[in-house]
Amino acid sequence: MKLQKFFKLAIFALALMAFGAACVKEGPPGKNGTDGANGATGAAGKDANETCKMCHTPAKVDIIAVQFQYSKHETGEAAISESGNAGCSPCHTQGGFQDVVARKVPSTFTVGSNGKFANDYACDVTKAYGELLCRTCHSSIHETYTSTDLPKLTTTAPVSLTFLGGKKSVNLTQDSGNSNLCIKCHQPRPFTFNNTKNAAYTGDVLNYAGLAAKPTDVFFDGTSAATIAQAQIIPGYRTHTHYGTVGAIVSGTCGIEFTGPMAYAQAVHVTKASCPDCHMASMVGGTGGHSFNAKGNFAGCNISGCHTGVDATSAKYWVNPRAAIKGLLEQLAAKLKYNGVEFMNRNTDATTNLWAGITTNNYDGYMNVYDPATNPTGQAMNPIQFQNPSPAASWTPEQKAYNLTLQVLKMTNAQFGAMINFQLCLREYSLGIHNLDYTKALLTNSLAIIP
Ligand code: HEC
Ligand code: HEC
Ligand code: HEC
Ligand code: HEC
Ligand code: HEC
Repeated sequence: MKLQKFFKLAIFALALMAFGAACVKEGPPGKNGTDGANGATGAAGKDANETCKMCHTPAKVDIIAVQFQYSKHETGEAAISESGNAGCSPCHTQGGFQDVVARKVPSTFTVGSNGKFANDYACDVTKAYGELLCRTCHSSIHETYTSTDLPKLTTTAPVSLTFLGGKKSVNLTQDSGNSNLCIKCHQPRPFTFNNTKNAAYTGDVLNYAGLAAKPTDVFFDGTSAATIAQAQIIPGYRTHTHYGTVGAIVSGTCGIEFTGPMAYAQAVHVTKASCPDCHMASMVGGTGGHSFNAKGNFAGCNISGCHTGVDATSAKYWVNPRAAIKGLLEQLAAKLKYNGVEFMNRNTDATTNLWAGITTNNYDGYMNVYDPATNPTGQAMNPIQFQNPSPAASWTPEQKAYNLTLQVLKMTNAQFGAMINFQLCLREYSLGIHNLDYTKALLTNSLAIIP
């Protein structure tokens, strides 16, 4: 072929290719090349699709993820607001929870270099994030991609109670210890010595048994700077057990056990029922299953070996016991007073009061102490409040002056202990269903001990 002709053909060929590309027109394919040599045989792999389908089916993970849309673990906002806080995150974030479980962080209090006690129950701050999703409770998901990953739980070990500074552990062994998983987070938080004006300030956990042993001793006297300086704890609006008191009541622990007319006993639920038994029963609307919500769901009561036919109209198992506990809570709140002012705060707003409607006066378990910053609506909702013994420097002169017009706060050991029992029994939500015997004894003996 002459060189000139070759170039002409080549240009024509290029033009054809460009034209072909533009028109998406291709020539016929060439012949197949000869086969290459076979490669080495690979190691036998798992059938990925098959292991995925063990879990990723509409009947398993998919439907559970839908049920979980109704769980406050997913819908609640505390995981966002408490992220990055080493003390709050063990219960409020996935990473924080997994960290305290993996490192077996104890809930003891130990003395630091400043000579003061501090709570050891804290997570690594760099891991303190993540909403409470599937992996919070099932930390092995996607670890081996085999059936051992689910429903394996992150922990079912006995729980060292932070309220008691780790001096006691609870272990509910029924249902493979599943309740221990829930109690690890759903437990009250400790009352600690917070009075830095007291020369003997330690930061340690309150000696709860001391309240029951010496009920008539003065716990707090806000009359003067000198009497305030003697207190171990300066009460304020947020002097409380925190929110998760269910774990304490379900395990029959943490109450201030005053000697009184009723013996302390535990209901059958403490040893026979588990949190999942009642809270993860068959779905009814947005309750049961992985919604964890027990409200109005009686499927968990009526499982084999437990009850039959229990519902919201059952006098013996629902209406009467709950009415009795509601009555005791209301009597106790009415008696928890100093100079006519109630210690317990009222809050009619159901968005900020998780216990709205449980008592007629809508107590929320906080203290009825004036605080323009943390309790701005208290003035409107309570007939009269207590003077705040520790007003903040940031308050306006008007707020400080108003505070001084209010009733001075004074409490005995009996009143403080009875208040803790009120908080534990109000905030367990179920009006005694969790542990009727223990709740009834705590409230009855609290009523008897305060004048
Ligand atoms: C032991 C059960 C189990 C097996 C086996 C399993 N998964 Fe998952 N997977 C889960 C669970 C539970 C979730 C979280 C579901 C949710 O949040 O909605 C998840 C979530 C996912 C997600 C969403 C992203 C994430 O990590 O949250 C993907 C993608 C996924 N899986 C892929 C796979 C693939 C691919 C396989 C197979 C190779 C597989 N999974 C095997 C249980 C399993
Ligand atoms: C990692 C800690 C943690 C574990 C484990 C845990 N929870 Fe929770 N749970 C929470 C927190 C925190 C909330 C509130 C979330 C919010 O408001 O943002 C909550 C909310 C709930 C609620 C809704 C309460 C309401 O105010 O309506 C129920 C019911 C509940 N949990 C039951 C359970 C049960 C049952 C288990 C055990 C199977 C369990 N939880 C395990 C931390 C935990
Ligand atoms: C020992 C576990 C634990 C620790 C530590 C803890 N919480 Fe909680 N907290 C809970 C549980 C459980 C609930 C939910 C109780 C419920 O709704 O039944 C809760 C509820 C709350 C709520 C109410 C959320 C709502 O639904 O309205 C707030 C706010 C909150 N916690 C803030 C904090 C802060 C701030 C800290 C740290 C100073 C903290 N928590 C530490 C267990 C804990
Ligand atoms: C608050 C803790 C908690 C969270 C969060 C949680 N689970 Fe569970 N899950 C449990 C408990 C408790 C069981 C019961 C375990 C048993 O029976 O041994 C369980 C059981 C299961 C089972 C086996 C039982 C069944 O019904 O098939 C699967 C699958 C499962 N969970 C998937 C999930 C998925 C998917 C998510 C997230 C969408 C999730 N879980 C979130 C606590 C939790
Ligand atoms: C014997 C059954 C039973 C057991 C066991 C049980 N609960 Fe409940 N729980 C209830 C009932 C009933 C209510 C109140 C429901 C209502 O208000 O209608 C309730 C209410 C709650 C609430 C308030 C939100 C809701 O769902 O109403 C939380 C949070 C809670 N329980 C957590 C737990 C935890 C955590 C455990 C285990 C430590 C547990 N419960 C064990 C029956 C039970």
